[in-house]
Amino acid sequence: METLEQVAALVRACTRCGLAKGRRNAVPGEGPADARLLFVGEGPGYHEDQQGRPFVGPAGQFLEELLASIGLRREQVFITNIIKCRPPNNRDPLPQEVEACAPYYLARQIELLGPQVVVTLGRHALAWFLPKESISKLHGAARQLGERWLFPLYHPAAALHNPALRQTILNDTAKLGQFLARLDRSAPAARTGQERPAEEQPQQLSLF
Ligand code: URA
Repeated sequence: METLEQVAALVRACTRCGLAKGRRNAVPGEGPADARLLFVGEGPGYHEDQQGRPFVGPAGQFLEELLASIGLRREQVFITNIIKCRPPNNRDPLPQEVEACAPYYLARQIELLGPQVVVTLGRHALAWFLPKESISKLHGAARQLGERWLFPLYHPAAALHNPALRQTILNDTAKLGQFLARLDRSAPAARTGQERPAEEQPQQLSLF
């Protein structure tokens, strides 16, 4: 069975679309292999392309603040993007770039990780999971998607210079924290993906 590190190696060597030519680094994503929460952004920007790591620029700093507001550190969640290479001048990903990338890499990462909750950041990430839905309608609320939960947020970069949106993302993140706490109370074993008798369950089930 493939591992997340093997998928990352495939991403770093990928030439499936034209973005490969202009990148300095592909950005596979990072986080623990047993993360219960997966954050999916749009695509790498300048800083991410330079470092080969997701969300390490100003949007990443805000994402870390959002995580801290619900008692999480970035090391506790898996963070990646719909596309793994930076589009020129940070333009929106083209449909053919998404098609050349997400079914091969993001889909495998989701399969291997098995997250309980997928948090989409921005409309491009939401569109990959629910193409007909709009972020203005779905942001800040969980919805079941097969065996997982999807929790759409606006993109942190969009909120950096828009105080109203900033407050909306903070409020939505607080709702995410409440939702995670509710999940913890209702099905603590689900976080590991395993059903075990009570006496076999680890003492420390909760990250929060
Ligand atoms: N914006 C994104 O969507 N992803 C990143 O990794 C950084 C900024």
